[in-house]
Amino acid sequence: MRVIEKNSYEEMSALCAGILGAQVLIKPDCVLGLATGSSPIGAYERLVRQGEEGLLDFSRVRTVNLDEYCGLSGEDPQSYRYFMEEQLFSKINIKKENTHLPDGCAADMEAECAHYERLVSSLGVDLQLLGIGHNGHIGFNEPAGDFPSKVHRVALAESTIKANSRLFARVEDVPTQAVTMGIGTIMKAKKILLIAGPDKEAILHEALEGPITPQVPASVLQLHPDVTVIFSRK
Ligand code: GLP
Repeated sequence: MRVIEKNSYEEMSALCAGILGAQVLIKPDCVLGLATGSSPIGAYERLVRQGEEGLLDFSRVRTVNLDEYCGLSGEDPQSYRYFMEEQLFSKINIKKENTHLPDGCAADMEAECAHYERLVSSLGVDLQLLGIGHNGHIGFNEPAGDFPSKVHRVALAESTIKANSRLFARVEDVPTQAVTMGIGTIMKAKKILLIAGPDKEAILHEALEGPITPQVPASVLQLHPDVTVIFSRK
């Protein structure tokens, strides 16, 4: 595992975009696993800029996102599909049909989970971008009694609902469930890139240096052969 410390959000974002961009240059038809949250926004901005400048071509890139809220359609501004369209997809030359997120409104959620698991496995993720929650969650894999292996529906932890309520008008508006790649799904990625800001210092320390336990889901990354962590001190 490589841990790289940076002095600002801008420096972290620049390096993160550099690594994602390098992946696209090395393998133009690569599969990128993408994340939402505040952490990757700066990196996405840089990828957009590099696309506009003709430095990156996304026309053959495929993407799979980690997770989606249950009950929010892609048109809902709070959905992760909407976030990805706003921050990245609508601003680069990626084909919409090559961008994938779980369907949070699927009538049959069991079938949707199985379908998304098959999709991610069959595509094969070259590089998975991750953020980390204050409780150590990755994707929406909350602290639990075991490491969930596959895409599944999850009840969000109170602390996650509270943390994510900053993006909603009222805490009651935050969905209480989500569909997420499982820990096993995430661990199949060839390479993993985790980015985290200063508010995550304590949990990052616990995840990277503490015992490997499903109570700190990100601790499982200690078992992955190719993980890069970028931590920004400010
Ligand atoms: C959400 C997402 C996670 C993300 C986390 C941290 O809960 N489901 O994938 O890593 O938030 O987000 P932020 O980067 O905003 O701290």
